Formats: sequence, C-alpha cells, structure tokens
Amino acid sequence: MLKKKILVVEDEAIIAKDIKKCLELIGYEITAAVATGQEALESLNHNKPDLVLMDIMLNGPQDGIETADAIKLRFDIPVIYLTAYADEQILERAKITEPFGYILKPFEETELRTTIEIALYKHKLQSRLKENQRWLSTVLMSIGDAIIATDREGCIEFINPVATNLTGYTQETALGKHINDVLKLEGHSNVGAVCTHSFKPDIKDMVVVSKAGDKIYINGRISPIINETGSLEGTVLAFTDITEKKLYEENLNNQRESFISVLLHDLKTPVIAIKGYSNRYLEGKAKTDKEKTDILKIISGASGDILNVIETTSHSLKNKNTLMAFNPKELKFNELLASVLNVFIPEMEKRGIELIVNEDTALQPLEEMPVSIIGDYYQVKTMTENLISNAVKYANKLIKIKLQRIGNEVFLSVEDDGRGIEQCYHDKIFEEYFQTPESVKGTGLGLYSVKRVVEKHKGTISLMSVVEKYTRFEIKMPCIK
Ligand SMILES: Nc1ncnc2c1ncn2[C@@H]1O[C@H](COP(=O)(O)OP(=O)(O)OP(=O)(O)O)[C@@H](O)[C@H]1O
Ligand SMILES: [Mg+2]
Repeated sequence: MLKKKILVVEDEAIIAKDIKKCLELIGYEITAAVATGQEALESLNHNKPDLVLMDIMLNGPQDGIETADAIKLRFDIPVIYLTAYADEQILERAKITEPFGYILKPFEETELRTTIEIALYKHKLQSRLKENQRWLSTVLMSIGDAIIATDREGCIEFINPVATNLTGYTQETALGKHINDVLKLEGHSNVGAVCTHSFKPDIKDMVVVSKAGDKIYINGRISPIINETGSLEGTVLAFTDITEKKLYEENLNNQRESFISVLLHDLKTPVIAIKGYSNRYLEGKAKTDKEKTDILKIISGASGDILNVIETTSHSLKNKNTLMAFNPKELKFNELLASVLNVFIPEMEKRGIELIVNEDTALQPLEEMPVSIIGDYYQVKTMTENLISNAVKYANKLIKIKLQRIGNEVFLSVEDDGRGIEQCYHDKIFEEYFQTPESVKGTGLGLYSVKRVVEKHKGTISLMSVVEKYTRFEIKMPCIK
C-alpha cells in the first residue's frame, strides 16, 4: 500500500524534528518539514501531500490559520492544527478555516495517528460526496426536463437551464426566491403551498406564465424530498414543455370539427332535394309520366350525391388522405348548374320566387351553352349549391343567375333581391362560422366552403350588395378552351 504523505509546518525546530520522526515511525512519508507559511505554500506547489500538519502559531508574515486559509482556497488538502494551548479566540478563528482536526502539544503518538487517520477518512468521504454532487448537478443541468428544487418553505435551492428558459428567470435571480415569485401557473397563484405539504398533486395540462408574459403548457410531477427521519426537507418540481403538442392537438381538433361540420352541411342540400321532390310527388303535382320520371330522377340523383359524400369520406378516412378530397376532371359547368337549380325548384315555388337564368345575355338555355372546366365535380357542385341555397334563403321574389364564358374564364353570378349584406360584414363573410346577426338558421359554413373550393380551382369570388336591394356573388374560374 502506498504510504500517505504529510507536510509538516512547524517553526520550532526540535518539535518539528520530533513530529517528523514520530510520523515516519507510524509509517507516513514526509513531503517536507517547513517553518513558515510561505515555505509551506511553495512546497505544496511541488509535492502534494495527502494532509498538512499545521502549527497555529507560526513566525513570519502569515500565521498557521492564514496559511491554512490560503491552502483551502488553492488546494483540496485537509489540514490538522497543532497548538500548544487552546485559546478560545484563536480556536474561533481556526474554526472558520474548517480544519479536519486539532492536536494539542505535547501529543501522544496514538493521538497523532488517530487524528490523522480520521482526517484522511473524513476527507475521502467529503471528496466522494462532492463528486456525487457534481455528477448529480451535471445530470440535472443537462436533462431535457425543467427541474426546480425548493426547501421546506418553498424557497428555490436549485433550478436547471430548461426551467430558467421556461420561467424567464436567470439562475442568479431565481435562487433563494420563493417558488411563487418564479413559477407562475395560470389559475394557481400558490404553487408554494404544495411545497410545504407532503401531498403532491400531478402537474397536468397547466400553463406557466413566463416573466415576459408568454404562456407555456406543461405536464409534470411534484415530489417531496423526505429525509432519513421521514420529515419533509423540500420539494422537487419536474415538468416538460408540451406547448407544441398541445397546439398540434388543438389544430387537429379544429380540423376535425371543421371537417364534420362541412360534411354535415354538404349532406343537407341533397336531403332537402329529396324531401322537396318527394312531397311534390305525394301532393300529386307531377301529372304526366314524364313529370313523374323527372322527379324520381332528381330524387335518385340526390341520393347518389349522398352516397358519393359517404363513399369519398370513408375512402379519405381509410387512406388517411387530406380531409378535402380533390379529383379534378373535365366537367360541364352548365349541366352541373342546371341540375343544382333543379334541386331548389320546389323550395322556390313554395316561397313564390321567380328564377331567371341568363336573362340579358340573350343566350341559349343552360343545356345548350356548353362551358367546361377542369374541376372536382363534387366540390364544384357543393359550391354552386351553397350560393344558390343562400339566394333562396334570402330572396324576396327574384333570383337571377348568369353563366357565361368570358375569354378563358367561366363567369357565374348568383343574385337575389333580398335584404342584402351590410358593407361592414363584407370582409368577414367568407370566414368559418361567420353569420350576420340577423341570419336565418344555418351554420355559417356555406360561404367559407365556397371560398375554399374557388381558391382550390384557382378562381376568384366577389360580393356586391346593397342593403334592402340585392346581393350578388360573382365567381370566375379558368375554363377549358
Ligand atoms: N344572399 C344573401 N343575402 C343576405 N345575406 C347573406 C346571403 N348569403 C349569405 N349571407 C349572409 O352571410 C352569412 C354566411 O353565409 P353562409 O352561407 O356561410 O352561412 P349560412 O347560410 O348562415 O349557414 P349555412 O352554413 O347553412 O350555409 C349568412 O349567415 C348571412 O348572414
Ligand atoms: Mg349558406
């Protein structure tokens, strides 16, 4: 086993010689025996011992206590004081330098040996403890979660960089502060209360308000620090920033909600058609066989539309596609418009509304003026239905429809003579769920869906309206030459 090395600092030559001899006899190695503080520090620079035996009363500019203080600052070496008398005042001064022991002169060999062995052992334990603390602190500092430890009263004793980033306080400003002044949880003004109780609830979906006022969603745990006697020493709070996850979930929920609302909205028009036309049939309004067949064709077409919505939706869900399927194909807009108008005829008749299509263009009926576009049949149909259903809903006596080709564009205009839309709502009218205060039923999704479809087809939509006179929506979309 390697001999433990000792530096002896003693200015009385005879005593120094004695100590040296005694130590060697016990089995220690002496790195040096010096008489002044300065010599001691120089010796330490060259040859490091495991322990220093230091006479308190040294001659020279530095006494033993000052020298021990300097050693403590620069080296991690335990010091034992040698002293001839136990003067209270001197001992008080010596205590501040945290010595590992005192030996009173004259000393016995066994006393010397025991004090040195205890000091070496204590120092070894202390070094291990320091090492553990360093390791733990490095782990806590580099961990991805925010960690704050408080004492029994809730004052912060430790805070890692993730927690300082989250709360907006630096380590320097946070340490020693009460947890309530650093960790501000929305709706929970007294986090500190849980630090002083052994009951620790979980932190779930809570919101931290940082020093700058930012809101951060967190999840985490509060755990008590219990000492060996079983009493509460303090509290550790560990939490994770879940803001991104939370926003993602919120966005997903909004998308789902919006999808379901649009879906139900789209199903409504064919159901209205089926209801209107079957009533017409039952009321005996279809006299000839042709009229009866026409009604059944419309009912069959509307049922087909419902089936189509159900099938495309299940297909999208099964394949985890985007919720708004887009299958552009060549489609005849004039035919599509005619079939949509047909759906609303019973309702218009019931309300005594006159429908005029392409009045002033001196153009042919819709069936005879082909206008083709590349578009998603289902989406374009829903778009047209939404515009016409609004016109039917708000018209007094008249609806005017215009479908034209202007250059490379198809131009659709839907106008009614209803109450109009006040100018102040024009900017908001295409927003999801927006309805003017005097709206009649509905969800406020129709025009939102119209705008999305128009944009998807690289078209534009505009609104012109004069209150109590008319409302006109105009759509332009690229068409096939
Ligand atoms: N032709 C119109 N005349 C007067 N106001 C209209 C007209 N079209 C739309 N609006 C106003 O715009 C709002 C939004 O229309 P939108 O079609 O988006 O919703 P909605 O018709 O109320 O409900 P739904 O979701 O059933 O279509 C309506 O609530 C209404 O106030
Ligand atoms: Mg509508």
